[in-house]
Amino acid sequence: MESTGGNVLWFTGLSGSGKTTTAQEVYARLAAAGRPAELLDGDAVRKAICSGLGFSRDDRMENIRRIAFVANLLSRHGVTVLVSAITPYEEMRDYLRKHVNGYVEIYVQCSLAVCEARDVKGLYAKARRHEIGMFTGVSDVYDEPQRADLVISTEHRSVQANALRIVEWLNRARDGH
Ligand code: PPS
Ligand code: MG
Repeated sequence: MESTGGNVLWFTGLSGSGKTTTAQEVYARLAAAGRPAELLDGDAVRKAICSGLGFSRDDRMENIRRIAFVANLLSRHGVTVLVSAITPYEEMRDYLRKHVNGYVEIYVQCSLAVCEARDVKGLYAKARRHEIGMFTGVSDVYDEPQRADLVISTEHRSVQANALRIVEWLNRARDGH
């Protein structure tokens, strides 16, 4: 019997862009529809299985590789996996496109100015005061995604509207349109 794997929805974007919030909303909608789903959030994964890793280029690459490994394990059992991690380098996304089954890249677009104004965790302020190094968008790069499957704006659209769009996109992809 042929088994079809789940998609891996990979939310990439600046810190504070809304990756976690959007992924959680999509998760809630899938769960409500009785569809198996799992969330892998950068902040949580770093505590659980990447606690030795920092934010150098190499450590971020390793972080993403580990998340990709777990995502593949889950998706092959038909689980829709929602990954929210900055994933700042195009090199990482090239890796994911090659190695993650059912990879769907979602660029969570929000200007640096707005992310910084939100500063939910106070990290931008710390980065500006040089209390954190290699901070994405401030002292480390965020390569604008060039090949995203979906681009959502959290500056101009609500969480609900974006989540709905993603679920509809997913349904269409599953139906083969
Ligand atoms: S990465 O680049 O994909 O490996 O990053 P990720 O695993 O998503 O971790 C990002 C979260 O770590 C916090 N944090 C930092 N982010 C960026 N740069 C630096 N230097 C940094 N230090 C700590 C921050 O809470 C990020 O979470 P989000 O949800 O993106 O704000
Ligand atoms: Mg987050």
